[in-house]
Amino acid sequence: MTGRIITITQQKGGSSKTTLTTHLAVALTTRRGIRVALLDVDPQGSLGEWLEAREETLGEDGTGLIFRTASSWGARREARSLARDYDYVIIDTPPKSDREARPAIEAADLVAIPVQPSPVDVWASAQTLNMATGENVPAMLVLNRVPPRAALTGEMIEALSKFSPMTAKTRLVNRVAFAASMSDGLTVTESAPSSKAAEEIAALADEVKKMLRRKQAA
Ligand SMILES: Nc1ncnc2c1ncn2[C@@H]1O[C@H](COP(=O)(O)OP(=O)(O)OP(=O)(O)O)[C@@H](O)[C@H]1O
Ligand SMILES: [Mg+2]
Repeated sequence: MTGRIITITQQKGGSSKTTLTTHLAVALTTRRGIRVALLDVDPQGSLGEWLEAREETLGEDGTGLIFRTASSWGARREARSLARDYDYVIIDTPPKSDREARPAIEAADLVAIPVQPSPVDVWASAQTLNMATGENVPAMLVLNRVPPRAALTGEMIEALSKFSPMTAKTRLVNRVAFAASMSDGLTVTESAPSSKAAEEIAALADEVKKMLRRKQAA
């Protein structure tokens, strides 16, 4: 059996792609024996910086993750190659260009699109969603940086309802813990295991696993 490839993409910059990549990766490794590879297609290199901080915190052999980089066009080949040896391959992609993310989307078993709760951000995801649908790859919107206790506005609900079957039930709230954990190369699962943030990520990882199982069964 080959591993599952999850591509994290959103053309809007600063939408939480890298944060979602690291958090999902660590959450998926919590079951013993599960092997996760990270693939960075973004020349900004933030994922690599996080991994370096992780090596400083946990030691080179203690990160529990494997890390590779690829160019945008090389992503499909590299991801498929990694999927032969790892249970999950998670791809972090650059902002701005949907086109650059295409090979990573083509390779994916699931595309996860982080969106902040604003109609503008949701609309910015339409093209990526279409691309995934065109490739027959299931896609999910992940609402992120949601203000605590804030009800979604009517406009937001309307914008989301267009994509509702594709929106993850779990929402990630705007919490300092997410950003703070990253500076030590960790995620909230490790730096704040009994926090609400860690609960959210665990719930999201379960949803992701469920979607991948559904795809496999189809
Ligand atoms: N749920 C959250 N709560 C609080 N801060 C968050 C949350 N998610 C992300 N952030 C912060 O938002 C900023 C942008 O996140 P991140 O770097 O993951 O986005 P990105 O989409 O990878 O950006 P780029 O497009 O530049 O690659 C970071 O400072 C990160 O710490
Ligand atoms: Mg990033």
